[in-house]
Amino acid sequence: MRSILFVCLGNICRSPIADGIANSLAREHNLELFIDSAALGPWHAGNPPCENSIKVARKYGVDISGLRARELTAEDRSFDYVIAMDENNLKELKERGFENVIKLGGYAGFENACVPDPYYFNGFAGFEKVWEMIDLCVRDMFRKEGFYDL
Ligand code: 4NP
Repeated sequence: MRSILFVCLGNICRSPIADGIANSLAREHNLELFIDSAALGPWHAGNPPCENSIKVARKYGVDISGLRARELTAEDRSFDYVIAMDENNLKELKERGFENVIKLGGYAGFENACVPDPYYFNGFAGFEKVWEMIDLCVRDMFRKEGFYDL
């Protein structure tokens, strides 16, 4: 079974959204994928996604309220795909010995753009924007990586 790990700084805003979208796509299409997400920092370990991430996911029919943040471990190097949200995540992952790390913004024509951190945006609108970008990228990733044909 192929495995995918989405990584961001806190694992409460961006990566849980990616996790939720990927899981819902996998369920919808009956795909055998193991999907998880993790944080580079320790601050929010054990916490649910932030309120606005839960809210935007619910708006699009995805329930991420049961997810809990966890910190990245060395064992996470065994994931087939490790997907960073921004350049800082990518750099940090490489410094921690993760190889073959890619940015989610490499998909769906975003020219390797960073998924901005909505934690620092004003209010819900930032989460809507981030949801839209992550949704397009995850869907494109599933198609380009051939997950529908496994
Ligand atoms: P995320 O956003 O990386 O998308 O989960 C963040 C949430 C919290 C913090 C940083 C980023 N923080 O420093 O607490």
